[in-house]
Amino acid sequence: MTPVNLEAVQGNVLAGFNTAHQVFLGLRLDNDADLAPVRALMAALAGQVTSHAEVRRDRELMKDSANNIGRSWLCVGLGQALLKRLRPDVTFFSKSFRNGYAARRFFLQDPSQPDDWRFEGSEANRLDMLYIVAGNDRGSTQEAAANHLVRAAEAGFARVWQEDCARIPGDREHFGFRDGIAQPRPALGHGDDPDNAQAPGQFVLGYPNALGDVPPDLFSGARLFSDAGSLMQVRRLVQRPDAFHGFCRDVAARLAPGWPGLMAEQVAAIIVGRWPDGTLVDTNSDDLMAALDELDDFDFSVPAQATGCPTGAHIRKTNPRRGPSDQSVPDHQRFLRRGIPFDNGPGDRGLLFVAFQSDPELQVDFVTANWMNSDSSPGVGHDILVGTTPGPRAIDVGRNGTSVRIEGDDNAWIVPNGGAYLFVPGLPALAALEAAPGAVNATMLSMVGRVRSGLFDLTQRSRGL
Ligand code: HEM
Repeated sequence: MTPVNLEAVQGNVLAGFNTAHQVFLGLRLDNDADLAPVRALMAALAGQVTSHAEVRRDRELMKDSANNIGRSWLCVGLGQALLKRLRPDVTFFSKSFRNGYAARRFFLQDPSQPDDWRFEGSEANRLDMLYIVAGNDRGSTQEAAANHLVRAAEAGFARVWQEDCARIPGDREHFGFRDGIAQPRPALGHGDDPDNAQAPGQFVLGYPNALGDVPPDLFSGARLFSDAGSLMQVRRLVQRPDAFHGFCRDVAARLAPGWPGLMAEQVAAIIVGRWPDGTLVDTNSDDLMAALDELDDFDFSVPAQATGCPTGAHIRKTNPRRGPSDQSVPDHQRFLRRGIPFDNGPGDRGLLFVAFQSDPELQVDFVTANWMNSDSSPGVGHDILVGTTPGPRAIDVGRNGTSVRIEGDDNAWIVPNGGAYLFVPGLPALAALEAAPGAVNATMLSMVGRVRSGLFDLTQRSRGL
């Protein structure tokens, strides 16, 4: 297997920043703005964006010191409109990226109205660039974001959205559940891949995917431009914990006559598929605790685990784990989740959901439209937690040979108000945006061997290639 060039891939994609604080900075460029300063900014950013290799090196350093990276990390994504101006010769295969989230929302059954969105709701808050600035100290992360904003403004960008996000202690999301446990493990080809690692091309363009192909990432344009890049979906999901927990209390009261002792917390755990601490639910057991050494080490081909976790539970709708209705290529649809909670006070707290993959149509969009919003696939039942299917929704819960039904109305506890797809370029591609298209092809060609062989390194990067 060709090892993944870890100096070229952005660090938030495969390693995940996972820092205590992250500032999301959404930027827009006027349609008639001069591109020369933008190109210069791209070259500068290629020296500032944090690569996978840098994240790894910093993490090694952190093992010996306080839990602080001491500096901020940066991830940059580019929107379709800006990319079209910088590289008119390049057209991405991905429909989601080309058409944008506002157009995709019908397919995804996102019921929200773009007028209410914090970003990408209209031309005025279009995301041409998205910075994710990450660090473990709030003040210095915000300061770094402010500095990035100054430089972006000098190149002509205006801020259209900013979100200051922070992890909740215990890695909880706002309903109180531990999040970010289950992740696919990409095979990086550097000798330390776990047994069940997934083909890197599932997450990074230019490498073989689960089928063994390097899929055509671009309709047209220099093929290498997309190499080492990834496609991000970001969604702003406001959560209403009171509505969710109130619903769980009502269900527990309604079902209590047939299920003595059923608690609201259990109902919530059944809907998620895990207890708040991450333990897998087991509806056949009175305490509902399944003893697993590793929170992610289970599989629905194992009968006890398959019968104890409802097919409509959120974690099972989004990842059937080789259960009876899994896809023919198991795990083909998985993506890397890099979301983080935001909290602007009651009424405006939730999850900034972030997914990285090479093909959103087959990954996050597929899971959303075909599984989360289906009552029959990959298993029977709705994803009551996050799914947005209109009309009555229900999960059937197997319990020691009998079946109990949890019925829910329209999802009243998650209110989406923003969504976007961005291309997260590899560092060589970002550097190459310095040049106009004609010249870019030559630059890109000269880069071919270096990117592929892993010789593209920080020294070249700091010279801006
Ligand atoms: C506010 C909205 C959401 C909440 C509160 C939420 C909550 C959770 C929780 C508590 C878990 C279990 C912890 C873990 O395995 O990491 C989980 C897992 C997961 N969620 Fe969500 N989620 C939300 C939105 C979404 C969306 C929009 C998707 C997109 C399809 C999604 C896909 C997944 C996937 C793929 C898993 C891992 C399943 C597995 O592999 O076991 N989630 N989510």
